[in-house]
Amino acid sequence: MKTFSRRKDVKREVWSEDKRNAEIDLIIPPCEQWHADSKDLPQVRKPSASNEQQSQCWAFMGAIGGVGTTTLAVQMAYELTKQSRLADPLKHKSESQICIVDLDFESGSCIHHLDIEPALSHDDLSGDPLRIDRSITEAFLNTHDNGISVLAAPNVMGANAHVNTQTVLALLDSVSAMFPYVILDLPKQWQAWSYAALGGSDFVGLLCDLTIPSLHMARSKKEQLAELLKSETPCEVILNKYERRSFKNTLQLVDAEMALQCELFSMLCEDSSVTQEAINCGQPVGSIRANSRYAKDSRKLLEQILSVTKTESQSEKEMVKIAS
Ligand SMILES: Nc1ncnc2c1ncn2[C@@H]1O[C@H](COP(=O)(O)OP(=O)(O)OP(=O)(O)O)[C@@H](O)[C@H]1O
Ligand SMILES: [Mg+2]
Repeated sequence: MKTFSRRKDVKREVWSEDKRNAEIDLIIPPCEQWHADSKDLPQVRKPSASNEQQSQCWAFMGAIGGVGTTTLAVQMAYELTKQSRLADPLKHKSESQICIVDLDFESGSCIHHLDIEPALSHDDLSGDPLRIDRSITEAFLNTHDNGISVLAAPNVMGANAHVNTQTVLALLDSVSAMFPYVILDLPKQWQAWSYAALGGSDFVGLLCDLTIPSLHMARSKKEQLAELLKSETPCEVILNKYERRSFKNTLQLVDAEMALQCELFSMLCEDSSVTQEAINCGQPVGSIRANSRYAKDSRKLLEQILSVTKTESQSEKEMVKIAS
């Protein structure tokens, strides 16, 4: 009989540290550069002030697996692409405005949802972070026919433990400086780059479905993230696969909010036929079924996120427009 737990070569330094620090070490792995002061924990740095437009970064993470995080991340990227083209058709005709980054190097599925080949490799992710600049990042990107740029690597077992965290963060910095909108698809398990990626985001969407394990995990993750992110980044729970008119003996919204101990930010309907058709066609839902209930719900969610992430300068510009 195999006994994995007794293997002598498994290193457990993180857990053998001082008990007071053990919990935080599990969340934020030791990192010499930023360890001294909690204010200096790794963050995705925003693009420099010289950039005309400040990048918006939205992160999506599942409370548990299979709740539809990648489907939603891809659909959000598609709707944002559509909106930016409508807003400025000439400028955005050829340029990609939205980049989706798959931060799960072990079981990410953005490339499958969009049926594209990954341009980034496991070796690139393990390489020197100082090598990452705009031109190399461009070489790592792949662009889908509908204009969404994708930064993703092929799945390799154990890759999440082996990639160079600083290289991952350097890539995030680089795409943030290149695109007005960056969508992050985070793995459900906490990784060394999760804190920096979430902390550098303007919005965090935590997805769950209407099942007890998923609601409990969402509540626990939301509480922990609220503690970590303070009030600097809105972190909201999104209920996916919700059947509005269900006659089955399922949980109700009121049960969900009681289990979550917070209000739901948004709901997306259960629509397995369109979501599966989209995945099998390598397209976002909105591109093949623009009038489906799922596409409509996701557009509503997009408007909600845009309203909570509006920067002060955007609001000021709108005020000036209204005043004139
Ligand atoms: N609103 C929805 N209604 C019905 N099915 C959905 C919905 N959203 C996603 N799905 C289906 O759920 C399955 C999982 O979707 P997806 O890959 O997006 O989940 P995930 O949370 O990213 O999974 P993982 O944890 O593996 O990353 C897919 O078959 C997808 O079609
Ligand atoms: Mg996924």
